[in-house]
Amino acid sequence: MQHIPVLLNEVLKELNPKPNDNFIDCTIGEGGHSKEILKKIAPNGLLLGIDRNKEQIKRAEKNLSEFGKRAILRHGKFSELKKIVSETKFLISNGIIFDLGFSSAELTGQGLSFLKDEVLDMRYDKDENVETARDIINNWNYDRIIKILYEYSDEMYAKRIAENIIKERKKNRINTTFELAFLVKKSYPRSWKGKINSATRTFQALRIAVNNEFEEIKQGLQTALDIVDEKGTILVISFHSGEDRIVKNILKEYGKVKLIRASNEEILKNKKSRSAKMRILI
Ligand SMILES: C[S@@+](CC[C@H](N)C(=O)[O-])C[C@H]1O[C@@H](n2cnc3c(N)ncnc32)[C@H](O)[C@@H]1O
Repeated sequence: MQHIPVLLNEVLKELNPKPNDNFIDCTIGEGGHSKEILKKIAPNGLLLGIDRNKEQIKRAEKNLSEFGKRAILRHGKFSELKKIVSETKFLISNGIIFDLGFSSAELTGQGLSFLKDEVLDMRYDKDENVETARDIINNWNYDRIIKILYEYSDEMYAKRIAENIIKERKKNRINTTFELAFLVKKSYPRSWKGKINSATRTFQALRIAVNNEFEEIKQGLQTALDIVDEKGTILVISFHSGEDRIVKNILKEYGKVKLIRASNEEILKNKKSRSAKMRILI
């Protein structure tokens, strides 16, 4: 599935890339935002792009090949930003962008989607030696499961979901996305009629826990604030309230924070943009 970069025009307006500027894209993904930035910083501007998913780096390499050595791509995560910047000697940056979460391409093969029957994994990087969603669901105790459901996704039916998980795993291990989505559905009242799928919040909480996402955002933003040029721009796009709260609270300690949402026109073309909140430190 083709990933459509959200708030692209607004990102370009806020970053205002000019010939020979340098930028860092901490979530290069398929290079959607960066492609347009690279065009504007020609002929000599450089862009450092990082991603914790090696497959995404490969996709970005392909999509940004026309820019040659001006696109410097590295596999790594936000918490490694300082190290990557020093290894690549990428010392001047006019702006840094974070487009949080996952991209459409990652909805296949990672166990991130409740619409695809896959092994419950959820690691962005399959070589990372961390607990997968399957480990969490089958091994964590009731209190820990409830805690992530409440804290990472405000799941209203956290207790019922945790009870059903514990009950089920006494009989069978829970291995797949469909098995978990079914258990969550069973935990919701029959009369429930929400705008989102009943499994959305549980899957979000697990993804955040597996990838330590909140801590990653905190560390990445702190590094970005340390390394961006004095007049440089920091811009973060988030997709749910937990992420946005962290971003807003960190940025507001350093100045005024502007909020931009997607236009109705963009929402009609790209449903994902409806929940996007872009915060810019000014
Ligand atoms: C929404 S996508 C970015 C899409 C990109 N802006 C584009 O237009 O193609 C988010 C990307 O961030 C990556 N990612 C998530 N958490 C990360 C982290 N802590 N460090 C580095 N990359 C991360 C994901 O693997 C994904 O490729």
